[in-house]
Amino acid sequence: MKTLTEKYRPQTLAEIRGQAMPMRQLQSFKRNPVSRAFIFHGTQGTGKTCAALALANEICGGDDVWHGVTIIPSGDLNADSVRELRLNTLATIPWQGTGWKAVIANEADNLSQTAEFCLLDILENLPPKTVVIFTTNNVEKLSPRFRSRCEIIKFAAPVKDFGNGDGTAEAAAQSLIDDVWQKELGHNHAPKLSDLAGWRENGHLSFRSVLSALDPLIRLQREDDEAAAKLAAAKPLIPALPGERKSALAEMEAAAAFFAANR
Ligand SMILES: Nc1ncnc2c1ncn2[C@@H]1O[C@H](COP(=O)(O)OP(=O)(O)OP(=O)(O)O)[C@@H](O)[C@H]1O
Ligand SMILES: [Mg+2]
Repeated sequence: MKTLTEKYRPQTLAEIRGQAMPMRQLQSFKRNPVSRAFIFHGTQGTGKTCAALALANEICGGDDVWHGVTIIPSGDLNADSVRELRLNTLATIPWQGTGWKAVIANEADNLSQTAEFCLLDILENLPPKTVVIFTTNNVEKLSPRFRSRCEIIKFAAPVKDFGNGDGTAEAAAQSLIDDVWQKELGHNHAPKLSDLAGWRENGHLSFRSVLSALDPLIRLQREDDEAAAKLAAAKPLIPALPGERKSALAEMEAAAAFFAANR
């Protein structure tokens, strides 16, 4: 069974919550894309990797055979991968989709120094129809020269957008809890954010942590709901009781009257 974090992973930019500004920037880029490298940076569990995948898929189109999206595994951020990127990935035309290519490298602060150095050239001169997206919690670890070749998009703690600018991270988290609770259990008796343990990461709201904390509560509530449903299903026997009770009462009254008369 999937965890809530996986099940509720946004698949499109439109599904990303609480990141109004970055989403505006990316939607605007999507309307008029040019070859570009991005760094999505910000605190943990705020939607950077989801947004990178969503943008890549939306720009490249298609989804079964290779349609142009390549993910460099976080453990492979070394010079060999960068060479492979230049010689193969960026030189190959996708078999399907729009003809765009997207490369995603998560945890980019783990790039080895040589890899970062090799990337400088590539980023300076990206092939046509190519987007490269790095995600990181720690943008300062990347060299200023590297950063200057990328457009930097900041993911702050998600904030609920009420349209009047007074949203809070707590409201964003509560609305996620309410929605997921409703979808999973079909009712709206969701817990309050303050009932959840560990939803902050390093002092910031993390949607990943909110969903992880909600997971066991939903499992328990589902068990309670199932037990209550079983009890309710057994109830049709009970309405028969008042009638039975009435006739038993009448019998007792008749017996009492008989004994009283024959005392
Ligand atoms: N903005 C968001 N909207 C909706 N769900 C989100 C959002 N951010 C995070 N999530 C939830 O948290 C999970 C993790 O998100 P994601 O991997 O994008 O975080 P991240 O910012 O890349 O974190 P990290 O810095 O740890 O890599 C997602 O699968 C999703 O369930
Ligand atoms: Mg990530």
